[in-house]
Amino acid sequence: MKKVYLETFGCQMNVSDSERVATSLAAEGLELVEDELSADLVLINTCSVREKAEQKLYTRVGEVKLREGTKPVIGVMGCVAQLEGETLFKKINGIDFVLGTRAVGRVNEAIRKVLSDGPGYADLGEREADYDWSVADAQRHSRSVAFVPIIEGCNKFCTYCIVPFSRGRETSLPASEIIRQVLELKRNGVKEVHLIGQNVNSYRPSTESGLEGFKGSSPFSRLLRAVAATGIERIKFNTSFPRDFNADIVEAIEENENLCNWVHLPVQSGSNKVLKDMRRLHTVESYKKKIDRIKASPRNIALTTDIIVGFPGETIEDFEQTMGLFEYSEYATAYIFKYSPRPDTPAYAMRDDVSPEEKTRRFLELERVQKHLQAKHLEGYIGRTVSVLAEKRSAKSPSDLSGHSTCHRVVNFPGSDGMLGSIVDVRITQAKANSLYGEVV
Ligand code: SAH
Ligand code: SF4
Ligand code: F3S
Repeated sequence: MKKVYLETFGCQMNVSDSERVATSLAAEGLELVEDELSADLVLINTCSVREKAEQKLYTRVGEVKLREGTKPVIGVMGCVAQLEGETLFKKINGIDFVLGTRAVGRVNEAIRKVLSDGPGYADLGEREADYDWSVADAQRHSRSVAFVPIIEGCNKFCTYCIVPFSRGRETSLPASEIIRQVLELKRNGVKEVHLIGQNVNSYRPSTESGLEGFKGSSPFSRLLRAVAATGIERIKFNTSFPRDFNADIVEAIEENENLCNWVHLPVQSGSNKVLKDMRRLHTVESYKKKIDRIKASPRNIALTTDIIVGFPGETIEDFEQTMGLFEYSEYATAYIFKYSPRPDTPAYAMRDDVSPEEKTRRFLELERVQKHLQAKHLEGYIGRTVSVLAEKRSAKSPSDLSGHSTCHRVVNFPGSDGMLGSIVDVRITQAKANSLYGEVV
């Protein structure tokens, strides 16, 4: 066993878990390969948030099994692994081991077990405190951007959502540990950290350690100020839970230039009736108050969101209220999803009464409105200069570099390899469908 192909589906928490796994594998002398066909082990990090996401696991295992030559060992990790456990061996033929979201720290143990005892090994155990996770030699998705989990799990139990079941209860990392990681990343040349979690602003550590001396009305806004004080160039955070989003977070952004001007605040619906059935714990009115404060900020904060269309009981009137909220909020970007019933969630027991055709129609209609608003938003950048972290060569056009602005917009521009990893000022000349184009000034 030498070469490992690691494939990741799902959210930033899965990307972060894959980075930890990759780091453990490398420490064990295993090589991560880009070419799946040469791999002795194929590891699939799965997502269960919608049926389509879960389906990808079945498709991928089928494809790997069809491959010519020697068959690789197949390991399944992530949210499907945590939810299904050993039943996966019965559901999908050819899987060798299953590693839950709480067992990512023990990947090497799982591999050893399979090599010595054969297939059929599952570990869904408690997540150990991986606070000593070494940042210095970590395998990352980017040289200049790093994800730092600050809170794991979710206690919110929105009625449609599987995440509280696949990720367990909320646990916050001590601020002192987060700050240690950020300082180490900064020393290693990382320019941008993303503080990540299902609900970052529900951050509630069991100790004050690291937060002493930082003001703020919630532990999260104090953490933001503490991380800002490390002096790292850019700090982004997601996702924020609307109920727990307070003005103090905007104030922290206003006081610290290195706290980036981007807030992702998933509203899910513009109808109070639907929000109540989703158990989102915010109303359209309370949400609007929060975004009014965000929009009033001189920092020019970009607001993004997630929406579910076709939730059980969503009428045309409810949907029209969502459209209305879109016009009001003028999101920089919106991720729109069709409701997908997830087994064992409370909404699963509700009648999924919006037909697939109607869900598609609402999806497309909202997407059309959003595209229009986004185009207007992007055109507003033409002639302006934005600060961009040059992250990589553009995949489409090799003479261009690609990166993100402080407000998390993709910006492409002609540039040399020497610029990679640095922050440059780019004057925007063109607005594309989902990105901006410009020239370094
Ligand atoms: N913690 C974040 C989001 C986690 S999941 C939050 O609370 O906002 C990412 C997005 O997937 C959600 O915001 C929601 O829009 C969508 N989603 C979750 N469950 C879904 C389901 N059953 N069907 C369709 N979309 C879903
Ligand atoms: Fe899911 Fe709601 Fe938790 Fe977000 S807050 S992860 S949507 S249960
Ligand atoms: Fe998917 Fe699990 Fe994230 S279900 S969205 S990978 S927490």
